[in-house]
Amino acid sequence: MKTQPIGIFDSGIGGTSIWKEIHELLPNESTIYLADSKHAPYGEKTQNDILALSVKNTEYLLSRGCKIIVVACNTATTNAINYLRENYHVPFIGIEPAIKPAALNSSTGVVGVLATRGTLTSSLFTKTTALYAKDRKVIEQFGDGLVPLIEAGKIESPEMDALLQEYLQPMIAENIDHLVLGCTHYPYLIPKIKQFLPPSVNIIDSGKAVAKQTQNILDNLHFLNDTKKRPALEFYTNTDPDVLESFLGVYRDVATISYLHF
Ligand code: SIN
Repeated sequence: MKTQPIGIFDSGIGGTSIWKEIHELLPNESTIYLADSKHAPYGEKTQNDILALSVKNTEYLLSRGCKIIVVACNTATTNAINYLRENYHVPFIGIEPAIKPAALNSSTGVVGVLATRGTLTSSLFTKTTALYAKDRKVIEQFGDGLVPLIEAGKIESPEMDALLQEYLQPMIAENIDHLVLGCTHYPYLIPKIKQFLPPSVNIIDSGKAVAKQTQNILDNLHFLNDTKKRPALEFYTNTDPDVLESFLGVYRDVATISYLHF
């Protein structure tokens, strides 16, 4: 089991922000990353559709012998992880918006959350907010349109600037001091978001915490790969592999990136 890969899936390229954290913390581990870009954005789909896509991705990763699955998509986590945990035998790690640290550390008492419609309207998100931020003002903002622009490689574009201006301005007016990024695509927007926010606002994403949790669970199960064998870093996408490759940065030379029909 130790040498089996870690499986990671997302609605597209966003989860590569999580993959990078996992690979940096666990460089011995082989990984299989599945980018379902053809069906992005998940955040604007029904819960049944998100569940069906999450099941399909999981079954592919299990067919490849993955020892653990990271659902590197907030929308799939909030809508499907309970079902996946109940129906499949491997451990699942999910991504939840980091409301807790934002609420704990806020001095103004106001935190912003930018996430997809599918995440912000899920019962898991409502419960987490009620639990950790009940004495805080939480400004929620749907990030409609952001994921398609990121998937299309249009981070630097007038359309992106217009959406960020529209979504962030009301939060700034309410005096947020923390902005929680509740979608794994959004860390790729951090340099852009910083252009719109006052420097005093902390931007929080979940990547490092997810990598740490993956390490802890593998360690507890004695599933960490302690062999010296060079890991295989495989990436699959059902759209253009060049787009996925462009998000891998320095890792593109050690990864294999392929088109897969799914
Ligand atoms: C999406 O596909 O809409 C975004 C994925 C996420 O919520 O992380």
